[in-house]
Amino acid sequence: MSFKEEFGRDVNEGLSAVEKSLPSRYFYDKRGDALFVEIMNSKEYYLSRAEMEIWKEQSVDILNSIGINSEPVDIYELGAGDGTKTIELLKVLNGHNYHFRPIDISQNALDLLERKIKNVLPRVQMMGIKSEYFKALEQIHSKDKKIILFLGSNVGNLTPRQSEEFVGRLSRLMGPTDKLVIGFDLKKSSEIVLPAYNDSKGYTRDFNLNLLERINNELGGNFNLALFDHEPEYDEATGLAQSFLVSRADQDVRIKFLDKTFHFDQGERIHTEISRKFTLEEIQNVAARQNLRIVETFFDSNQFFTDIIFEKERP
Ligand code: AVI
Repeated sequence: MSFKEEFGRDVNEGLSAVEKSLPSRYFYDKRGDALFVEIMNSKEYYLSRAEMEIWKEQSVDILNSIGINSEPVDIYELGAGDGTKTIELLKVLNGHNYHFRPIDISQNALDLLERKIKNVLPRVQMMGIKSEYFKALEQIHSKDKKIILFLGSNVGNLTPRQSEEFVGRLSRLMGPTDKLVIGFDLKKSSEIVLPAYNDSKGYTRDFNLNLLERINNELGGNFNLALFDHEPEYDEATGLAQSFLVSRADQDVRIKFLDKTFHFDQGERIHTEISRKFTLEEIQNVAARQNLRIVETFFDSNQFFTDIIFEKERP
């Protein structure tokens, strides 16, 4: 099945459901990537700043905890994006014998990352892999020691069941000396979380609306973007942040590629993303169920975010 057919199938499925939805993985085309960089630099999106602080201030400690000596290492980064944090780790690793294998759904993001790495660390051997997360697991099979990075709270975009399955599959791929590093956004008050998903410059709104723009461009849709609002929500108790697009009017939208018209009532919502926030206890429970042991936990100074190093539980 071609990418276009897959995209069309997913859009049709999501917009035909009683509660309409669109998968968040389609955010990331060229424009979506650029908007996500703006989001990460916005004053409200604390996640990137908090995680960057961890990598800038504690990368030597992180490296010691990962335990790298002279043996060759393969560093896989799932959902690498612009790789800003990983570059901090790679800088510390300078001189070690390693390959860097970033995995991202966006070829554009991989190309930008390759250019950046060539500039900052010209001797790094990088081989990008374009893939979504679950398919990417098949590519993680090296015999050398593996370090698997899943940063930026990308894990928060998976449902509880998906993340449990994903962490389980990662665990089963790991050998006794391999390490897994996952970045989790921690549960906190909605005064901090909600603005991060509704920045004052409107980058998050445009990022969300870009899904409709993409359907227009790639599937021949005729969405009028001005007739949809961006609506984020956050529940402090569950730690679930969600994004929706809300129809401002009763309207019909035609998608040529699907040869189909979809009706939207005024006020009807399309669910577009979940961004889960975690407690340490929840993380520990998932790890234990998936035979992983926490080696060390790193926090930023506000305790907003954590990067946790896991290894295989010894039998
Ligand atoms: C990539 N991911 C961790 C981001 C998040 O926070 O869920 C995507 C994002 N969506 C809106 N703003 C940022």
